[in-house]
Amino acid sequence: MSKSNTLVSGIGSHKKVKKYYDDWSENYDETLKKWNYKAPKKVISYLKKFDEIKPKKILDIACGTGLFAEEILKIYPKISIDGIDISKKILNLAKSKKIYNNLKCCNFDKNFFTKYKYDLISCIGAMTYSKDPAKLIMKQINRLKKSGFFIFTHRVDLWKKQNFLQILYDLSKYWEIFFISRPNLYLPNNNDFKNNIKIKVIFLKKK
Ligand SMILES: C[S@@+](CC[C@H](N)C(=O)[O-])C[C@H]1O[C@@H](n2cnc3c(N)ncnc32)[C@H](O)[C@@H]1O
Repeated sequence: MSKSNTLVSGIGSHKKVKKYYDDWSENYDETLKKWNYKAPKKVISYLKKFDEIKPKKILDIACGTGLFAEEILKIYPKISIDGIDISKKILNLAKSKKIYNNLKCCNFDKNFFTKYKYDLISCIGAMTYSKDPAKLIMKQINRLKKSGFFIFTHRVDLWKKQNFLQILYDLSKYWEIFFISRPNLYLPNNNDFKNNIKIKVIFLKKK
């Protein structure tokens, strides 16, 4: 199976995902650039619409090599960003960019400790890999300050399959559904994704 075919199907176990991204790390940024990876810039275009979102401290989960962090720093140049990712090799690349305050290798579906309470937590281009998205969303509650934001993207095909809107309604005691975007292009220059697989951008606000 080709790399992008495997991406469409979601790769598999956490162990497989880790290996997949470790193996991909060498030319990851280059490949995503070729595929015109849209998620980071798209999220930023929506963030800019909301004056009330003014984060100082951010946790970027599944941070990858820092493509989202690079974009968010353009609109909030003074923020401090911590990142976590399951792939050590991908994290090494993120480290070399010197844009993160702290980086840690961990699995977002498992418990991991954070020293701080954050104003905003991001999970861009990675919800596909969570084995239990509702649990993942709820795990962010204690890591956020009051009225903090959890922002993420999710593939529209999986959104429908998982009845994701209902998942969010079920969590509405804890989260305000602050914003859900229309479907947006994700990897338009990749033949498997093109116009077929789009993403939504979601902003949840801690109640
Ligand atoms: C498509 S990349 C997105 C990276 C980054 N958020 C961005 O937008 O540039 C997906 C990332 O999710 C990470 N990832 C996948 N499953 C994970 C897990 N269970 N825990 C932590 N990171 C994970 C991968 O290692 C990879 O770096």
